[in-house]
Amino acid sequence: MKLNKIWGLVAVGAVVGLGLPYKIDTVYYEISDEKINDELCLVILSDLHDDAPEKRLNELSKRVRDLKPDLILMPGDMAEERNHQDRTIALLKTLTGIPMYYTTGNHEEYRWDLTSLLARFQDVGVTVLDNRAMEVPVKNTLLEIGGIKCRRGAGEYSPEEVSDLFHTDGYRILLSHKPNWVELYEQIDADLFVSGHAHGGQWCIPFTKQGLAAPSQGLFPKYTSGIHETGKGKMLISRGLVRHYHGLPRLYNNPEIVVLTLKPRIREGEKES
Ligand SMILES: [Fe+2]
Repeated sequence: MKLNKIWGLVAVGAVVGLGLPYKIDTVYYEISDEKINDELCLVILSDLHDDAPEKRLNELSKRVRDLKPDLILMPGDMAEERNHQDRTIALLKTLTGIPMYYTTGNHEEYRWDLTSLLARFQDVGVTVLDNRAMEVPVKNTLLEIGGIKCRRGAGEYSPEEVSDLFHTDGYRILLSHKPNWVELYEQIDADLFVSGHAHGGQWCIPFTKQGLAAPSQGLFPKYTSGIHETGKGKMLISRGLVRHYHGLPRLYNNPEIVVLTLKPRIREGEKES
């Protein structure tokens, strides 16, 4: 083999090796809103796909508990198809005591035993919000948290049926697995949409957040992570926690725990006391 070919292979190996995931990031965001009266810490866990062998489970659990969140939001794909849920449930069990809210992702929706899976989630303290919303008072702030489950095929929801889930003037949060449903979210009167699904685009251009591909978004997808404006509200997308997807490793795209701080925003003309 010629010397420059060897150097080429070494360079490709180094680029790939450097980009393989070696740690879970903790990524912080802040949103201020007039409906928020206290500083609240929300942790978002998404797309774990039951990928929590013991060492990883312990690390994830400790890191989440150390954040002392007011609540945990899970927009789907925490478990996996084909009877893979025990590691996820073991993780959630260690978080019992922290209010946890979940809605079903596409990988869970495919399961014939979804009802018993959701019952196991509930047994460890998870509130399942599949096509319903509930009032969640935290400190002096009223949150209203809802969720819409993934549906098979192209069965998207109408804006009216999703908007009808909410009934209060509290800060409205909708858990919905798919960020590519952004056109739906733009028509809903909610403050925050929390999604996952895209896994950050699986492979990223080195040292950028630009993913290569995502389901229903094709190449170089727009909605894979971060905060996006949705007209009336904002959409927060988690890059998820699973390390591989169908055997394909992430590249330059670490799994992440998302931490969202909700803060009061002073109304114009009001004085801070
Ligand atoms: Fe997923």
